[in-house]
Amino acid sequence: MTRKVIIDCDPGIDDAVALCMALFDPRLEVVAITAVGGNVSPDQATRNVQAILDQLDPPRRPRIGCASEPANSLPVDAKHIFGNDGLGNNDFPFVEHHQRHAAEKVIYDEVHAAPNQVTIVACGPLTNIARALLRDPELAAIIGQLVIMGGTVSAPGNVTPAAEFNIYSDPESARIVFRSAMTKTLVPLDVTTQVAQTYDFLDQIPDETSRAGRFLAKTLPYLYRTHRQHLGEEGIHLHDAVALVAATDRDLFELRQMACDVEVAGELTRGATVFDRRRLPQWRPNTEVAISADSTAVTDCILRGLAEAARAT
Ligand code: RIB
Ligand code: CA
Repeated sequence: MTRKVIIDCDPGIDDAVALCMALFDPRLEVVAITAVGGNVSPDQATRNVQAILDQLDPPRRPRIGCASEPANSLPVDAKHIFGNDGLGNNDFPFVEHHQRHAAEKVIYDEVHAAPNQVTIVACGPLTNIARALLRDPELAAIIGQLVIMGGTVSAPGNVTPAAEFNIYSDPESARIVFRSAMTKTLVPLDVTTQVAQTYDFLDQIPDETSRAGRFLAKTLPYLYRTHRQHLGEEGIHLHDAVALVAATDRDLFELRQMACDVEVAGELTRGATVFDRRRLPQWRPNTEVAISADSTAVTDCILRGLAEAARAT
């Protein structure tokens, strides 16, 4: 019995790696990929989802949900890390899909078609998830699980000292999601930055005899270059791929129920994820949080997923 998943993403090369793993994982049925603005504009994120599907050509084409502008314009992008097009400036061609459906509508449709059976892996700002909840508040009760890449518990932010990129990009939506009754698992920077891919990772990914291998060869080296140039890091973090592993192999993570909320007003702290860790907490726990991971095993899962994609393409 395969598990139905929706990948909500703002491709972004690490989003693309997560998609490459999910689309060919025999345990998963990717029923939809919904695009959201973040690393790049909403329109570019939608184009990138189509381009990635055209590059990988999976046997089952998921539905595509199109991104739309968030209520507050995106405060930042990540083009300096992922390239102007979000995928290493490859300007991949793509086939425009004539039937364009809004991401939140696709989420609504797919969750109602399979109540309590759909896992959503949120790899970008939480705009679409919040909009789906606002469209139908009952949705929180019938989404199987929401796995979120975002936030920090004790680690510093990566877009401000206090905030991680996905949450910072749309804090109001993130607050709606964290305050909802949904079953949530948060995979914060504290954990995703534990799983570092040094240069030897490039020697272990599939070769260019497959579609997946060619796509990775065109995108990953770019990420290593920008991490070195802009972040001074000799390696990369595939944050969204780690979040996908948390959805498929949760036993590789130490998880703890915590009470989380999002700062939406702070001049210095807007977008920060705040946890009630007082000795006598007053907030009700609302999120399962990954607080550590078996980094080697998680990297092995990523490599196995990419090898499966290469075998299939
Ligand atoms: O902070 C890391 C997150 O921001 C990842 O999802 C990456 O793709 C960017 O969206
Ligand atoms: Ca992302």
